[in-house]
Amino acid sequence: MKYRNLGKSGLKVSELSYGSWVTFSFQLDTSLAAEMLKIAYDSGVNFFDNAEAYANGESEIIMGEALKTLGFTRDTYCVSSKAFWGGQLPTQRGLSAKHLTDACNAALQRLQVDYLDLFFCHRPDPETPIEETVRAMHALVIQGKIIYWGTSEWEAAQIEEAYQVAEKHYLTPPTMEQPEYNMFNRSKLEKEYLDLFNKRGIGTTTWSPLASGLLTGKYKNGILGDTRMNLSGYEFLRERLESEVGRAMVDKANQLQQLADTAGIPLVNMALGWCLQNKHVSTVILGASKPEQLKQNLKTLDYVDQFDDSLMQQIDKIISNQE
Ligand SMILES: NC(=O)c1ccc[n+]([C@@H]2O[C@H](COP(=O)([O-])OP(=O)(O)OC[C@H]3O[C@@H](n4cnc5c(N)ncnc54)[C@H](OP(=O)(O)O)[C@@H]3O)[C@@H](O)[C@H]2O)c1
Repeated sequence: MKYRNLGKSGLKVSELSYGSWVTFSFQLDTSLAAEMLKIAYDSGVNFFDNAEAYANGESEIIMGEALKTLGFTRDTYCVSSKAFWGGQLPTQRGLSAKHLTDACNAALQRLQVDYLDLFFCHRPDPETPIEETVRAMHALVIQGKIIYWGTSEWEAAQIEEAYQVAEKHYLTPPTMEQPEYNMFNRSKLEKEYLDLFNKRGIGTTTWSPLASGLLTGKYKNGILGDTRMNLSGYEFLRERLESEVGRAMVDKANQLQQLADTAGIPLVNMALGWCLQNKHVSTVILGASKPEQLKQNLKTLDYVDQFDDSLMQQIDKIISNQE
């Protein structure tokens, strides 16, 4: 495993990390989740991603139980949570100081840890002043409940505002952003955030590197077998896959498969390795619902040396979405 600094912070995160969205609770119980965490940890993964919204808190309970059973020492891994979608009541949602405080305390309990390494604002909240959110996050840092705080899918201007508020009031600024980044969705990380990377040095923990599995190429003959596309509660993934946009993605994945075959790189590893070519990616958060998927995805680092300008250009030609 290789490690990168999380933006300008001193924290070194593994280039590949592992997250629990969809899988923990819906596809993996505590014992299987522990198996997955151990596979990742044994190959050098040091960051596990979670959120209060994942399986309505059940994902964090499972991760907490699994981590306790596995007995990894706390100074050898990082764990995150994200706040925004806590419950249905107005006090249980958004980025108010109250909800951020409650969400952090609840995540600590569910995950059975004394502090969160990374704590994210899962989405921007237009109904809460950014200054209130920055002050709440700073307070959690001072209380020792979180180490680094960041954003997910915020606009660049909102992150810049958070920085300016933090600078003005000597508060802790955000360290990282968690954007979607994969061959089909690249503009936020490659364009919108460029100034932030250069000026503020934020790190990124990027999500859905396989576009929820589309970049494995496994949907070329439709939705077969045991997959998240068949889970109730995630119908939107299936609807997207079956839409015109989804069908175009499947077609591109078929073309990428041919290129991957010629290059001698499994498509999954080509898609994941492509994300790592961007120096502004601190860590690619893997998703996997089965041990063999995770093992295959972790092999990506064996292929990164095979990426050259020619391969990147051929990929660009197929995905044809460089703005
Ligand atoms: N901040 C945010 O808003 C946000 C949003 C989404 C995700 N995330 C984070 O990012 C993490 C990763 O996202 P993701 O799960 O969407 O990642 P992904 O890599 O795009 O999709 C993972 C899914 O693809 C399939 N897959 C993975 N490896 C495979 C392989 N080798 N062969 C065949 N199929 C394979 C599995 O689904 P099947 O079960 O269908 O086979 C797996 O669960 C999440 O766990 C979460 O921590 C954050």
